[in-house]
Parts: sequence; C-alpha cells; structure tokens
Amino acid sequence: MSFYVTTPIYYVNSRPTLGHAYTTIAADIVTRHHRQRGEETFFLTGVDEHADKVARVALEQGLEPKEYADRIVGVWQELPRRLNAINDFFIRTSDEGHERFVQGFLQRIYDNGDVYQDVYAGLYCYGCEAFKTEDELVDGKCPEHGTVPEWIEEKNWFFRLSAYQDRLLQLYDERPDFVLPHIRYNEARSFIAGGLRDFSISRATQTWGVPIPWDPDQVAYVWADALVNYRSALSYAPGENLERFWPAVHLLAKDILRFHCVYWPALLLSAGEEPPKQLFVHGYLNFDNRKMSKSLGNVIDPRELIDVYGADAVRYYAVRVTNFGQDGNASVDDVRERYERELANDLGNLVSRTTAMIARYRDGAIEQTGAEPPWDVDGLRAKLVSAFDRFEITNALEEIWLLVRRLNQYVEESAPWQLAKDDARADELTAVLYNLADGLTAIAVALAPYLPESAPRILEALGQPADDPSLERIRSGTAISVGGIEPAPPLFPRVELPAAAQ
Ligand code: MSP
Repeated sequence: MSFYVTTPIYYVNSRPTLGHAYTTIAADIVTRHHRQRGEETFFLTGVDEHADKVARVALEQGLEPKEYADRIVGVWQELPRRLNAINDFFIRTSDEGHERFVQGFLQRIYDNGDVYQDVYAGLYCYGCEAFKTEDELVDGKCPEHGTVPEWIEEKNWFFRLSAYQDRLLQLYDERPDFVLPHIRYNEARSFIAGGLRDFSISRATQTWGVPIPWDPDQVAYVWADALVNYRSALSYAPGENLERFWPAVHLLAKDILRFHCVYWPALLLSAGEEPPKQLFVHGYLNFDNRKMSKSLGNVIDPRELIDVYGADAVRYYAVRVTNFGQDGNASVDDVRERYERELANDLGNLVSRTTAMIARYRDGAIEQTGAEPPWDVDGLRAKLVSAFDRFEITNALEEIWLLVRRLNQYVEESAPWQLAKDDARADELTAVLYNLADGLTAIAVALAPYLPESAPRILEALGQPADDPSLERIRSGTAISVGGIEPAPPLFPRVELPAAAQ
C-alpha cells in the first residue's frame, strides 16, 4: 500500500502564518499515521511562485521575481522543518523539473483538442488570482480580500472545462467520498451541476511564469501551473519510481475548493491522467473571527509560538482548536491554556506520576501481570483507523484523550499510595502500576503522529522501545517488563513568556 498526501503550495508573496502551518501539520499527522499502518508514504509541500502578486511584491522591493523568491523561500522551507514535518520533497514552481513537466502537461491538453483561443474581458482579483463575476462581489469588492477587482481584457488560451461536466459528475457519482467532508462534496458537485464555464489558462500581459509551449509569448495562468505541482513532483523529486504514488490525497482549505475539486480533476482527465484519489477540504483558522491573513494584519506567527511552546504543542493546538474541517478561532491565550491544562496537566502529570510511583513502590520495575485493564485499547485502535480514513484527526485525538482521562481517573480510584501501605495487596499494586505503564505505552504510540517529540520521550521514560510506532502496539499487554524506571522530568514544563508574547 502506498499513500501520497499534499498540502497546497503556498504563495511566497508573504510569510508563513499559523493558517499555512495548519494544513502542513494536518498533512504530517496523516502521513505519520499511514506510516504506522506500515504503508509507504510520500508527503509533498512547497511554494507557488509564479503569481502576479509575487511579481508585484518583487517589483516593490526592486528585485526580479526569481531573485525575490530565492530570498524568501528560506522561511517557507524552514516552516515544515520547524513543525517537525517529514515531507519527502519541497517543491518550488520555479524548479526546472516542474516547469518542464507543466509544459508537457499543457501540450497534452492542447493536443487533445481541449484548448482554444478567445478574448476574455472581466473583473480580476489578484488576491484570488481568479476572475470574478459581479454576483460574487460584495459592495463591488472581493469578499476574501476586501479589494476592488481590476478590469482585464486580453487574448488568452482557454481550457474547455465545459466539455468535462458529464465526466466530472460521473466521477462524483461513482466516488461518494471523493471529497470530504460531505458538505464540501455537495458544494463541489452542485457547482459542477450548475454548469461549467471554460477558463483561461494563459496570460498575455505577464512575463513571470512558465511559457506556453505552442505560444511562448504567453505564460501559463498561475493555477494551470500550480495545480500541476502535485503531479510534476513525482517526475523529478529524488527517489526511485515515484510515479507509483499517483493518485494523491490533497488537503486544502475551502478558499481553493473549486480549483482543486473541479478544475484539477478536469485538467488531469484531459491530460490522460488519473484524477486525485481524494480531497479533504478544511475550514479557516480565524483570529478574532476573521481569516488569518497577512494582508488583514491578524497573523499568529507559528515560529514565535514554536519558540515558546515547542513544535509538539503547536501541532497539538492546531488539531484541538476546532474540529478539523470546520472553521475555528485561534488565540494566544487559548494556546497557553490548552498547553497548561491538557498537555502539562492531563498528559505530562500522568507520565510523571506513573514513573514516580513505579520508581518508589517497585524500585523502578514494570512487571507484566496478564491482568485485563479496565479500558478497551483494541477499541481505540479501531476508532483511530476509521477516523483517519475520513481525515477526522480531531476526533481521533479526542478518542486518545478519553483514555488519558481514564488513566488519570484510574490513578485516583485505585490509589496506589494506599495499596503500598498494605503488604497483602502487593500483587494488586503491581497490576495497577503495570496497567498504567501499559495504557501509557498505547497512548504514546497513538499520539506519535501528533506529538513526534514527546511520544518517544514517554516511551523512553517507561523503558519501552521508542523507535517502533507501529499501530499494532496499540493493544493491551503491549508494555514489556523492564527495570530502572526513574521519575520522569516534566514533559511539558512551565514556560516563561517572552514580553512580546504576553
Ligand atoms: N498558491 C495557492 C495554492 C495553490 S495549490 C496548487 C494558495 N496559496 S496560499 O498561500 O494562499 O495558501 C492557501 C492554503 O493555505 C489554504 O488552502 C490553506 O490550506 C492554508 N491556509 C492559509 N491561511 C489559512 C487559514 N487562516 N486557515 C486555514 N488554512 C489556511 O492559495
């Protein structure tokens, strides 16, 4: 089995926000989970460079677009690294391998008879890099960007999207889970059913972009170039026979649903390629109830949060802040509260207490007893698999947290400090401590996709193999007998907030 997941490629006209980090975190968690299943994975992220808004920012700074992109790309490449993401490749649309592939791809569509020349005149939003109809505007402005679109009139090459309506509807009908969540499937399907308009895939007035192979005076429209990244990367990224990973699972936010769920499958069909395997469309992470965006000036810088709380806490927060799929409201206070209440108290204290009691009452020994724990770990494993099959990463995390809470409750109920006073109950105490160590081992393995730094630390603190995150270890009786357990230092220590973060 192989599993290929992508994030959108981010525009380099600004710097990364927590909103961009959001999709990268989700894609990483999903990838790590599929690795736990023993699947071969490929995870792609990267940047979208050939947008007019990128050329504009470059111009403002007195730079050539490529020179500008070369300077800013570093912070984007740093983002997955800082988040601890295991992406296999980082694509830039200015990569030679990508440009070559895009030209071949567009040529195939042209040869297939799906491209014609026409004049387009209309209102264009540079924020969306898309034409807008009057009824999509609010008070004459783009509702996404709050800007007045510009009038554009030029002779372009058009893609016959309208010719793909029936094939797209058929695809949607054959694959009821093609787009998840279902509300997004319905949205895409009804957009298709409402009738499709051809769209222009070239720009005559721009020079920053991939030249159209049969008309080098024009460059490819940024979306006709960018979407192809998901496919082009497999043709030139380092690695053997990467083509086998196609088709991909695409994660994206609802702002770019039409491009991904309508245009992209049609372009692929026209080029003679398989459509995507699946698409998951998530919501916006808002800050003060408005989509976080650089242009709106309401950004949380993910790097600052990582500096204060660490990558695991930021990953955890991103999943927890709202049910993945729906819109959510992020705030700096909420990050701190969840860090303290959930990571430090619920989980961190459980690890500290468990290891301290094993050290104190059993001289650091964990002993397998064969006793059945009072919780159902097999059930948890099955729930994780079915939640991840639907990209329900928040629900899956909540299931794991139920077990964290159950173990905390078990500590209180079984009161090992009382058992320790009574020699006649020594076996009972051994079993309670084993159950705690065993439950925590399963929890650590289940949390490994979310908390890639802390999960191995929990396993190490319990003397358990830390380098095998296989899902099979989420079962009762998984913890092995070991000695030498010492009280673990706090997993999520109190943080001192720098003045700027307060
Ligand atoms: N370059 C295009 C995508 C091309 S993909 C072939 C683009 N780039 S973007 O920089 O605007 O990033 C869009 C993606 O970033 C969104 O779809 C989403 O995945 C992520 N997000 C950026 N800000 C976000 C929020 N505030 N909330 C949630 N996700 C957001 O569009």
